[in-house]
Amino acid sequence: MNKINVLKPKYRTEEVLDEIKICLDKGWTGMGFKTVEFEEAWKEYTKLPYAHFLQSNTVGLHLALNVFKTQEGWNDGDEVITTPLTFVSTNHSILYENLQPVFADVDETLCLSPESVKKLITPKTRAIMYVGMGGNIGDISEIKYICEEYGLKLILDGAHMSGTYTKESAPDPSWGYTISHTGWEADVTIFSFQAVKNLPTADGGMICFKEEKYDKLARQLAWLGIDKDTYSRSDDKGSYKWEYKVPNVGFKYHGNSIMASIGLVQLKYLDEDNDYRNQIATWYDELLENINDIKTIPLSWHIHKSSRHLYQILVNEKKRDEIINHLYKNEIYPGVHYVDNTLYPMYSLYGGTCPRASEYSKQLITLPIHLDITKDDCTKIIETIKEIL
Ligand SMILES: Cc1ncc(COP(=O)(O)O)c(C=O)c1O
Repeated sequence: MNKINVLKPKYRTEEVLDEIKICLDKGWTGMGFKTVEFEEAWKEYTKLPYAHFLQSNTVGLHLALNVFKTQEGWNDGDEVITTPLTFVSTNHSILYENLQPVFADVDETLCLSPESVKKLITPKTRAIMYVGMGGNIGDISEIKYICEEYGLKLILDGAHMSGTYTKESAPDPSWGYTISHTGWEADVTIFSFQAVKNLPTADGGMICFKEEKYDKLARQLAWLGIDKDTYSRSDDKGSYKWEYKVPNVGFKYHGNSIMASIGLVQLKYLDEDNDYRNQIATWYDELLENINDIKTIPLSWHIHKSSRHLYQILVNEKKRDEIINHLYKNEIYPGVHYVDNTLYPMYSLYGGTCPRASEYSKQLITLPIHLDITKDDCTKIIETIKEIL
């Protein structure tokens, strides 16, 4: 029997190896060269004004908060409103900067609820950390509006959002919508190219600021605070100039040319791959249409095309673990995205403050979604669940 895992990357191996070979032959595997090409390609693809390639989304989230904290004069203990329904990277990054995560509840799209966020704003609130869950975007326009009203930074954790296109209504609705790759909504968006994401490298992330001054500083800080990277200190003929200044204490967060080479190839297939993920989601939607005991997650009206990084369902919490174990017995390995973060010791101060997120967290199952999943697999998965509903 074929094992069906929840997530699985697909690499264009020969093409990727050709691209990596260029780096090896040139003798340049570090920052610069392919990382520059990848940043340019990402900007061209997303139409976002700035992009800097990093080791991961996690370091990008930290960098974003570090840049804003130092540039905007935030203090230790200042507050960032965030979600309990996410991977821990989102919230750990707030702690790295000695800021206080304040947990708001989610809405039916599993993204932060604007209503809940608004109630938690205090004079110490500095930013909203927003997660686009599984390719969904929730009520991002209301969140953007709140940020503008209260002078808060909007940080979009776009780990799941590569290839999600969103729409914004024109000032006059009869003019229709503008459709753009997501990221334009926030002051900074951080994407993930980790091993099982829609654009998998092995590890990697892209930090995309809206403003040049932040992008400039982030580039410096991602390279230990050094003002000029080694690539830009070398000319076309490979002559290397050693001199540089170190105006800041930075981090070793920048990406490298090997990962960028993988990313450059994978990016060419991102839209096509996401079309197939959307096809899988449609198969699941159809199979689940008349099953009352399973709820699907509605896409936000802002979504033009979701990356469909995840396909999540909600089941009765008393049955959830039984369903998962039954799937395991049938060699199907679903996931759970995510455990309510307030159950973890470092966030337990907020335990019980987000009832909807806690409830969902006990009901969620992520069904397998990747490029090897067929319509027959979807049917088998749903039939297997039905056996014990
Ligand atoms: C919502 C979310 N945020 C952040 C991350 C961290 O991404 P990375 O592994 O690139 O650091 C992940 C990765 O799983 C994620 O799902």
